[in-house]
Amino acid sequence: MTVIWRIALGTLVTLAALVLVLAWFISHDAGPAPVAPIPPQAARMKALVFRQYGGPEVLRIEEVEKPSPKADELLIRVHAASLNPLDWHRMRGLPYPVRLMLTGIGRPRLTRLGVDFAGSVEAVGSQVRHFRVGDEVFGTADGAVAEYVTSTEVGIALKPANSTFEQAAAVPIAGTTALQGLRDAGQLKAGQKVLINGASGGVGTFAVQVAKAMGAEVTGVCSTRNQELVRRIGADHVVDYTREDVTRGNERFDLVLDMVGSYPLLAYRRVLNPHGTLVVVGSPSTDRWIGAMSGWIKATFIRPFVGQHYDVLLADANRTQDLDALAELMRSGRVTPVIDRTYALVDTAEAMRYLEQGHARGKVIIRID
Ligand SMILES: NC(=O)c1ccc[n+]([C@@H]2O[C@H](COP(=O)([O-])OP(=O)(O)OC[C@H]3O[C@@H](n4cnc5c(N)ncnc54)[C@H](OP(=O)(O)O)[C@@H]3O)[C@@H](O)[C@H]2O)c1
Repeated sequence: MTVIWRIALGTLVTLAALVLVLAWFISHDAGPAPVAPIPPQAARMKALVFRQYGGPEVLRIEEVEKPSPKADELLIRVHAASLNPLDWHRMRGLPYPVRLMLTGIGRPRLTRLGVDFAGSVEAVGSQVRHFRVGDEVFGTADGAVAEYVTSTEVGIALKPANSTFEQAAAVPIAGTTALQGLRDAGQLKAGQKVLINGASGGVGTFAVQVAKAMGAEVTGVCSTRNQELVRRIGADHVVDYTREDVTRGNERFDLVLDMVGSYPLLAYRRVLNPHGTLVVVGSPSTDRWIGAMSGWIKATFIRPFVGQHYDVLLADANRTQDLDALAELMRSGRVTPVIDRTYALVDTAEAMRYLEQGHARGKVIIRID
């Protein structure tokens, strides 16, 4: 073997070893994070805590220090929170690359869970301009499954008076994903035909209603047991995925919003109009390395080779103007959040177990009394 070949082989072996070490480093689970001591005089509250990655069994309801608002923050008494697939991805630290980019290697960097909440403003910092004590609000905050959260004014909106706290807590991630997927990524116009795959889920039940409010003709894909629900929230047509493959049908669409990733992305070319758009929102989460990112990766590679427009969505649930837009749709009665099940705070692990099965009909809510 020549020197060049030996160097090449040595380099390859070293690279392979480095990749293996990096893979182990990213995917290993360390023991639980230490418990942060609470100063004796500090006020306390109950919150959902996880100190290590794993299934719902790692979730605990614990006493933690009650937060105090900074000058630009509000203190909010949470009445209801909702769970999203994002929460169980964070709980499990999956797919693994999110640990590197977001959640922490070995154990969670942030030990509190939950993003979506609705509640009442209990105190405001001196720089807060748009909210007052007593306002009923909804929005996003890290560690939202807790008795209290603090938040700046960004990502908070006034709760519509005709909505319950549970309904308002259902909105932030799922509602803004539906709105941004249809309006921004999908550029949906009145009169256009839209196909919503996953129409009965958290995002899908908002997407059906928001698309109808935008004047679209809506086809929802769901299973047999959810046909009636999807029709009731406004879908003009419903396709039962257990009996029919919508990508083999004769109907053509201007926009496909895919929350499920159950069809090959190329199959959508058949049912999209020549200038139609596919927006990839969600993908199957079975693979621990790529999982929920598989649809985004595939769509990005396929995009240059197809005539239609293939796009991916990473929603921003922290946009106050979008929460206001959804609140307005709720005030006018054009959007009513669909709530599947409501759990008590102590039963959050059970709620997460249910959501993880992937068959929720609308949103899963945690009631915090
Ligand atoms: N890109 C982003 O910014 C973003 C934001 C939010 C969410 N997401 C992702 O979007 C996806 C959906 O979120 P979600 O909150 O709506 O989840 P979800 O509430 O857990 O979705 C559950 C729903 O999916 C339906 N479903 C399962 N398999 C299906 C299939 N083969 N065809 C059609 N429907 C099917 C289920 O109906 P059946 O019981 O009838 O099967 C159920 O109603 C998740 O992957 C999530 O991670 C992405």
